[in-house]
Amino acid sequence: MQIRKLTGFMGAEISGLDLKHPVSADVAGLLRAALASHQMIVLRGQFLNIAEQKRLNSVFGPAMQLPYVTPMEGEPEVIAVLKEAEERNTGVFGGEWHSDFSFLENPPAGSVLNAVEIPEVGGDTVWSSQVAAYESLPADLKSVVEGREAIHVGKPYGVKHAPPRETRSGASIRMVRGDPAADRETRHPVVITGHEGRKALFVNPIYTTRLSGMTETKSAPILEALYKHATRPDFSCRLKWQAGDVAIWDNRMSLHYATNDYDGVRRLLYRTTFSADPPR
Ligand code: SIN
Repeated sequence: MQIRKLTGFMGAEISGLDLKHPVSADVAGLLRAALASHQMIVLRGQFLNIAEQKRLNSVFGPAMQLPYVTPMEGEPEVIAVLKEAEERNTGVFGGEWHSDFSFLENPPAGSVLNAVEIPEVGGDTVWSSQVAAYESLPADLKSVVEGREAIHVGKPYGVKHAPPRETRSGASIRMVRGDPAADRETRHPVVITGHEGRKALFVNPIYTTRLSGMTETKSAPILEALYKHATRPDFSCRLKWQAGDVAIWDNRMSLHYATNDYDGVRRLLYRTTFSADPPR
């Protein structure tokens, strides 16, 4: 197994493994360690089926079932991230910087995305290291956020970014509004501590609504400043997918963004998520 860093702050490509076969306990440990170090790892040309993807997911943690988004039929832990060729001038799932389902009391520790159909050009995913973002956070912002919580809620996702109708037949992602698990407010620390005591920013423009002890209006300029810093290109890693690739990311120590620049071409990936203890 070889590991090649993709940027200065995050992302690594791992080669020399065939994930169609179960990995040994030693290799599983190495994969978990690589994820902890690099926050996103990609293995090219794996062409995993759903069962193989679920087995890979279980290397990192127990699989999660998520509210709000309708999973694949018969596969409650799998979301098909699909945009059809005829879906033009519309948003894409994850088309804003976010951490998957941060509004849950115990948001996914990580996600696995398995590329099935990929446009020849476009449809890249971009991640941003929130460890790097925290470590270089200007002192004035650090003093505002240290020890503070942020409020997250799933509901604005539907209002701000989701397609206008409640569910869209034949469209990429089917979402159900009014799910209590998504609509209630949840609090998480703005700065969380992860592997080996490394700290990371944990706020995002899709699901974070305000900072604790402040109104939305008072929080807004602070959150805007945090997002501007958190998504600096310096901290990012952009993946140009090929069919067969599988990427795994730490959903708490990074943000990600699905680019929407491939109208007229079908894009399909399967996503699973895994859990761990709640963020601290
Ligand atoms: C996601 O936000 O999980 C989807 C990312 C992508 O489609 O690139």
